[in-house]
Amino acid sequence: MSSEEQISLFNLSSPDPISAQAMDFDQIPTSAKVPITPGVYKTMDELASHCKSCQRCDLGASRINAVVGRGNLHAEIMIVGEGPGQNEDETGLPFVGKAGQLLEKILASVNLTEQDTYICNVVKCRPPGNRVPTPDESEACKGYLMEQIRMVDPKIILLTGATAVKGLTGDKRGITKIRGQWMEWNDRLCMPIFHPAYLLRNASREKGSPKWLMWQDIQAVRTKLDEIRR
Ligand code: URA
Repeated sequence: MSSEEQISLFNLSSPDPISAQAMDFDQIPTSAKVPITPGVYKTMDELASHCKSCQRCDLGASRINAVVGRGNLHAEIMIVGEGPGQNEDETGLPFVGKAGQLLEKILASVNLTEQDTYICNVVKCRPPGNRVPTPDESEACKGYLMEQIRMVDPKIILLTGATAVKGLTGDKRGITKIRGQWMEWNDRLCMPIFHPAYLLRNASREKGSPKWLMWQDIQAVRTKLDEIRR
């Protein structure tokens, strides 16, 4: 099916609307020319099946697995990373490498478990050589992220690193400047935090170090969650 035909499937003012059943659903958003319509997915499984065949950007050509997300589909906290690395590409699961193990420890330090979180990335396919995803790649994938946020409906979104902040909110400020500050985006509470991979490169735990700052930030997240739950 051509992109034009795919687009026309979303044209609700069409005199001859095509029923959902008649749609070639697997094909619809895999072309970057076709926007991912908010509300199109009924389940995360539907979204995942599109991601697995997605060719909206060039990352689709080199992936082993599309990495959609893991954790509680109704979690109060959503964690958004940059994009899959090698371990994630191989397993199809986000944050399972060294950075992911550190993330798990950080969450566990304030008694947050997999049950409390849903973890995903701005881009679902691994950028070659672990480079930063381009703005076009982030944009091509953004509809999936927006749908994940809509479906999980988290109370708090943690944005790990500047790429996650920029990919979701468009805010281009450096992470050192904005980490630890609550920001509101689309009526949701977001907290930019350091990317765990950055912490792996900065071993110091001294006051004012990235690890120390992360400890402050994750405690603030825990406090906020407790407040929201009250
Ligand atoms: N880094 C990320 O940003 N995401 C992952 O899933 C793994 C490493």
